[in-house]
Amino acid sequence: MAKTNGEPSLELRGVSKTYGRKAVLAEVSHTFTPGLTLLTGPSGAGKSTLLRLLATVERPNRGVIHWNGAAGARGKLRRTLGYAPQAVDLPEDLTAREFALHIASLKGLSASAADKQFGAITDAIGLHADINNRIASFSGGMRRRLIFAQAMLGAPQVLALDEPTAELDAETARKLGALLLERARDAIVVMTTHLAEELAPHAAAVLRVEAGSVMRTA
Ligand SMILES: Nc1ncnc2c1ncn2[C@@H]1O[C@H](COP(=O)(O)OP(=O)(O)OP(=O)(O)O)[C@@H](O)[C@H]1O
Ligand SMILES: [Mg+2]
Repeated sequence: MAKTNGEPSLELRGVSKTYGRKAVLAEVSHTFTPGLTLLTGPSGAGKSTLLRLLATVERPNRGVIHWNGAAGARGKLRRTLGYAPQAVDLPEDLTAREFALHIASLKGLSASAADKQFGAITDAIGLHADINNRIASFSGGMRRRLIFAQAMLGAPQVLALDEPTAELDAETARKLGALLLERARDAIVVMTTHLAEELAPHAAAVLRVEAGSVMRTA
């Protein structure tokens, strides 16, 4: 049944994820609503796994994920999803702008809208001067910013961001955080970040992933 109040919601119901015999998430239930949700927890706890499930790049072994009140709505969710993985191979021979235009076309954006949005986002996070350079020449922090910028294209209703502030200097990381908080007024933003403590006062929720479960700590 579709929700009627118009606010997006992404709900995990009894979601379990195992790899081989290893249970990473066990019967996790949580509803994500607009605002910033921070994921914390020890290394290897399952934060990236949870983000991959939200980003529909993996499926739960058990349980269901409801998008706006409906199960099996992966296709609809994908149309309004931005995902920044923790680690990803980028197309080294393309320029950042060419890569962004490619992603934007997959999201159904026109080239002119994509150019405008990519320009604004990269400007805000200090990457704009480099967008016509080949990705092969990019540093770690530049790659992080590009991965973040492609996720933001199309103003998605759901953003799943895995360590988007890694390798960034403090000032750039703060600018990125500010952009996210602005977007989180309308969108469901779920992220892991080493800036969790700093962002926590502005977050709608802080979730701790540990020993298979997800607990709300703030
Ligand atoms: N594709 C996979 N195949 C097998 N095991 C996996 C796979 N992906 C993750 N795991 C295991 O699942 C567990 C959770 O991994 P995950 O990457 O989600 O943790 P994390 O909380 O993101 O850790 P970190 O803080 O180090 O990024 C780990 O034990 C990891 O080894
Ligand atoms: Mg991780």
